[in-house]
Amino acid sequence: MNKLTTDEILTKDAHLIQSFANLDGLKQADARTAIVSAEGAYVTDSEGNQLIDGIGGLWCVNVGHGRREIIDAITTQLKTLDYYSTFYNFTHPSAAKLSEKIAELAPGNLNRVHFSNSGSVANDSSIRMLHHYNNRLGRPNKKKILSRIGAYHGSTHLAMAMTTPAYSDGWDTAAEGLVHHLRSPYAYREAEGMSDAEFLDVLAEDMLTSIHNIGAENICAFIAEPIMGAGGILVAPDGYHKRMREITAEHDIKYIADEVVTAFGRLGHMFASEDAYGMVPDIINTAKGLTSGYQPLAATIISDEIYEVISEPGAMFLHGMTYSGHPAAAAAALANIEILEREEIPQRVQTTGKIFENALHDLKDLDIVGDVRGSHFMMGVEFVENKVTKEPFAEEKNIGLLIAKAAQKRGLIGRPLGNILILSPTLIMDEAMISTVEGILRESITEVGKELRA
Ligand SMILES: Cc1ncc(COP(=O)(O)O)c(C=O)c1O
Repeated sequence: MNKLTTDEILTKDAHLIQSFANLDGLKQADARTAIVSAEGAYVTDSEGNQLIDGIGGLWCVNVGHGRREIIDAITTQLKTLDYYSTFYNFTHPSAAKLSEKIAELAPGNLNRVHFSNSGSVANDSSIRMLHHYNNRLGRPNKKKILSRIGAYHGSTHLAMAMTTPAYSDGWDTAAEGLVHHLRSPYAYREAEGMSDAEFLDVLAEDMLTSIHNIGAENICAFIAEPIMGAGGILVAPDGYHKRMREITAEHDIKYIADEVVTAFGRLGHMFASEDAYGMVPDIINTAKGLTSGYQPLAATIISDEIYEVISEPGAMFLHGMTYSGHPAAAAAALANIEILEREEIPQRVQTTGKIFENALHDLKDLDIVGDVRGSHFMMGVEFVENKVTKEPFAEEKNIGLLIAKAAQKRGLIGRPLGNILILSPTLIMDEAMISTVEGILRESITEVGKELRA
């Protein structure tokens, strides 16, 4: 394969539409980074710079880059069976094995798995299934969805309608009126003067009021990420998910846990819902860490109870994508899960993830670091103009982007989001690498802080 120079890549790249990007800003010469190879916790750009992959690809490369075992499993699978669908009466060994494995790992009676190609589609799939479920139960009005300000559930029309409205500024979302957004559990800015328990009461009250106003008979589901990721790493107060689970169960509203990011080790467990938050939802949607990003694959894992209704005599499952459970993707997931289990990666994250958490919390002594939050390998740092008043930096200062650029110059990729920098690295980072990350962040934040104050 001929190696392209950076200029050659970027010239060709003028035809590529990047996702969630400021397309005008990307027209500037140095705005884009081409990643050409990756190994372990590092990636290499087209200029030969080795960078710590502080965002794990896109919160997905859990077991690290370049794992031969997964790559071999994909090629072996393709040589044996390149493609067959899981439509109609067809199946194949890898999809069958993977569905059994996921059912074994998922909590409670979540034993039935539908595959798709992305987290967005997995979230859409769960809503389609619940709408059909309620139709079959003779409740055609029970269709509305409770989501939250700050949520990110994907960018198909329906997933975007469930996502926080800020993400569709200037864009349309499907199904006006279908989704109601509850208050955000953004403690740093929403819980001024409240204890954790008081804030939890406020959030629970907001849910109860919304259910009362909309009518439980019109609501099919509440969808929530265990920790909100792309909304800015928002961690709900202790006991939140259990309490919300109780309220939804009391009102016959299904609880959908969007574990697209949090499953497969990122928070120290295969699934976070029960092991980290002590509750079993009705549906878990997951993707990303399921294959560690080596192949596109997502799963919608539903309870036996829902499955009973949608599979009763006379029912037809009118949903699916050509690549649902693609053999290569299923083989990648099986090999990935084998590595996670054999190397006890979730268990290791319980230790290394805490070290990472503590290292980032140490940055709080810097005068523009207002808040550090998150859990294990899912962390965010929020920058403020004034630590006492929490006054944010003006948007046009692009503080997150400036710090991400300063960090990249020093060998670390982070993800800017307004005034926040997000870190969601591979789960194989050791203590030495964590300390390097902390050092790079400290220098980058200090440098940018000084420049802004000059
Ligand atoms: C919590 C969550 N849900 C859903 C999605 C959408 O997944 P995908 O980009 O694979 O469609 C994402 C993507 O980042 C996510 O973070």
